Amino acid sequence: VIDIRKLYAQAGVFTYDPGFTSTAACDSTITYIDGEAGVLLHRGYPIDQLAKDSHYLEVCYLLLYGELPSAAQLEEFETLVTRHTMIHEQMHNFFRGFRRDAHPMATMVGVVGAMSAFYHDSTDINDEHQREVASIRLIAKMPTIAAMAYKYSIGQPFVYPRNDLDYASNFLRMCFSVPAEEYEVNPILARAMDRIFTLHADHEQNASTSTVRLASSSGANPFACIAAGIACLWGPAHGGANQACLEMLREIGTPDRIPEFIARAKDKNDPFRLMGFGHRVYKNFDPRAKVMKESADEVLELLGIENNPTLQVAKELERVALEDPYFAEKKLYPNVDFYSGIILDAMGFPTSMFTPIFALARTVGWVSQWKEQLADPQLKIGRPRQLYLGATQRDYVDIENR
Ligand code: ACO
Repeated sequence: VIDIRKLYAQAGVFTYDPGFTSTAACDSTITYIDGEAGVLLHRGYPIDQLAKDSHYLEVCYLLLYGELPSAAQLEEFETLVTRHTMIHEQMHNFFRGFRRDAHPMATMVGVVGAMSAFYHDSTDINDEHQREVASIRLIAKMPTIAAMAYKYSIGQPFVYPRNDLDYASNFLRMCFSVPAEEYEVNPILARAMDRIFTLHADHEQNASTSTVRLASSSGANPFACIAAGIACLWGPAHGGANQACLEMLREIGTPDRIPEFIARAKDKNDPFRLMGFGHRVYKNFDPRAKVMKESADEVLELLGIENNPTLQVAKELERVALEDPYFAEKKLYPNVDFYSGIILDAMGFPTSMFTPIFALARTVGWVSQWKEQLADPQLKIGRPRQLYLGATQRDYVDIENR
């Protein structure tokens, strides 16, 4: 068998590909995207089927283990995840060390990184059992951590997980329950929450997933790797776009101001971009955006707020942008973040929680890709090369002679 990587290394060949627009850094069997056709498959299954007919924990199982579970396997997996939803009690003190006005993403980067200290019995990446325990711990505890980051930021007491609830309902309750009254989870909202989780579960080698893989290639522990992924996701060009998009829609405010914002997005001297529009890989509709749009309509109707002005601005903005030659030429279409914020807002989440929700949903994707990478017998440390454009060799000059 010819090891092509060795051959290239020996030949001293390297490609110059800023932003990795056409460089595959790994092989994978988890997620397939056809950006031209707007297709997204997890282990072969189309995302719209998974979002409509499956549910998040089943999709987690599929991503992690490669096949849809039998009823018994699913029950066992759900029980396992449910049993790990609590976080170490000492971690409460860790939360309390943060300023109350910290962004919940800042808190999450810190807390998830700190899991290496609280759960060091599952940091040995060479031990298969420890790898499995770390995976389950991350998927199970992430909703608890995200909800705690939220509760802490609004000055309310933490709410412990309730293990008789499903994953999405449990998260909603941990976010919205207050001590004086028991929070009744609305099943419509729980289903919509679960769908948002499913739509964000994995997306092959995006920036945060590549960050997780690069961190892990050095042998770093799983909690440190996922914390690195959260840090990368936070940026407005990636996961931070959902917060930025809703803020933009609110700033536009009314459909009559749309032309002004479209003009700004097209102006090369203005750094403004239409948030929730465009994608590195999709040069057609993001299939997740289609499901998200349907979900937004459904949720707002069921909540009796069909006349939501933000949704109206979003729909009109989408219509105007899609008819504009600038967006057509550059193949810019709504992405997953365009409608997700409207649903989250209707559920009662502040914009600062949008990206933490993305992070918790994407955790299974990061973990699946991390596991896949560790199982690769040819795994090498990730070490991109560079095209050096700096000074050629020169002699040091004493400070008095400069
Ligand atoms: N509004 C206006 N123009 C845009 C937009 C946009 N949202 N997105 C891209 N363009 C333009 C660029 O100005 C560029 O024009 P040029 O060729 O004249 O210079 C061209 O389209 C190509 O854009 P790039 O930035 O080179 O494309 P890239 O693949 O690197 O970027 C990205 C993709 C980052 C998603 C970009 O489209 C963007 O910034 N979108 C807004 C932020 C956003 O919604 N991010 C979420 C992505 S999905 C996710 O992470 C879940």
